[in-house]
Amino acid sequence: MSGHNVWTHKGTFLLAAVGSAVGLGNLWRFPYLTGENGGGAFILVYALTIFAVGIPILIAEIMLGRSSRQSPIMGMRHLTKTHQTSRAWETIGWLGAASAFLILSFYSVVAGWSLHYTWQMLTGSLAGADADTINAGFNQLLASPGLMTLYHTLFIALSAFIVGMGIHRGIEAGLRIIMPALFVILLVVLGYSVVNGDIGAAASFLFTFNIADLSLEGWLQAMGQSFFTLSLGMGAIMAYGAYMSSNASLTRTALSVAFVDTAVALVAGLAIFSLVFGAGLETGQGPGLMFVTLPMAFAEMPFGALVGGVFFILVLGAALSSSISLIEPVAAFLVERFDLTRPQAVTIMVIASWALGLLTVVSFNVWAEGTIFHALFGRNAFEFIELLTNIFMPLGGLLIALFAGWALTQSEVAKELGGDDTWFAVWRFLVRFIAPAAVAFVFLRTLPQVEG
Ligand code: PFF
Ligand code: NA
Repeated sequence: MSGHNVWTHKGTFLLAAVGSAVGLGNLWRFPYLTGENGGGAFILVYALTIFAVGIPILIAEIMLGRSSRQSPIMGMRHLTKTHQTSRAWETIGWLGAASAFLILSFYSVVAGWSLHYTWQMLTGSLAGADADTINAGFNQLLASPGLMTLYHTLFIALSAFIVGMGIHRGIEAGLRIIMPALFVILLVVLGYSVVNGDIGAAASFLFTFNIADLSLEGWLQAMGQSFFTLSLGMGAIMAYGAYMSSNASLTRTALSVAFVDTAVALVAGLAIFSLVFGAGLETGQGPGLMFVTLPMAFAEMPFGALVGGVFFILVLGAALSSSISLIEPVAAFLVERFDLTRPQAVTIMVIASWALGLLTVVSFNVWAEGTIFHALFGRNAFEFIELLTNIFMPLGGLLIALFAGWALTQSEVAKELGGDDTWFAVWRFLVRFIAPAAVAFVFLRTLPQVEG
């Protein structure tokens, strides 16, 4: 295709991919999963999966985007034609778009909670509050469909606005402001946690491991997390890859994305656990770690309300830079396929995902029990949607690995990847054998859960 969109600078893809990767997955999900699964052993499995499975698939997904130069759905159609393979591979595009749509629906609700906490912290409502008050506050938020809908609406509207402005004036310009600010804030929070928390305890919790501590469930969660955190299998990376400069090194860029994403997760983990240990609190609080335990720690510390507020701004910015990458693949498809304007396409995608998000909102209160989702799947709507994405993500990743590893010929792929022969051979081996085997394992283990 000629006249396609590309990023303004050679390095913008890296910025955009890091923006997509670094998000609630690093700041919220990684720390609580690590806390629930006992620390170091979880991190070890997570890191191994990032290397053996995550990075190879990340490379493959960028490659598919860049060589097709279109949105994931149209791009896969184009690739199956030019490489004369089965049109069934288009499933990759459709699965990606479906997952992006599903994930955005609940991602925005959780990001909305951070909006609430930013506000609470900066107005000083939680300064000096005791544990019961903070606990009750979180429960009150979850019990209020109105409040949650308000935050969900604000967050998704802001994301839509950025994507609606286009890839240059919206996404690129937005990320140039958000991303540097995030790194500065992260370092400020880390510094604060070194001074006021117990960084030694945090480090030994994260970096000493006994692999026998980890349950099979923990293994699965670690592998699932490595997918989620790198934004794999959802079309986001493929959509951004379509705008990547042909001159940028694909492999080096993929390694940088994985490195930065992992570093952010580890630094966030260190900071959060330092504060949690420093305040003598528990690590295994699950999803409430960031929204309950952490505010408790801030409530006791000097300037806690201020630094806590800044921390939640970090969470918001990271979530925003990820949510825009969930809108892009679907919006770009609607533009290409139906000739819509970008604002029209974004509006359609976001309104639909917003409406679906209302199911997540009510899953915490009025529809917490006794719904059709419970009857059919033994879980509430939010848990069902999350389960679907936990199936679609690895399935998408598996198909990407198989397509890149087996459907495309070696010479076609070598041309796009370039670089060193040995590394190419390593990549090809991982993407043909190791990644599919590992992903199939996670996938088949998740499947039985569908019956509840
Ligand atoms: N990688 C993001 C995170 O760690 O928060 C989540 C995410 C964003 C997943 C975009 C998938 C995606 F397409
Ligand atoms: Na991430």
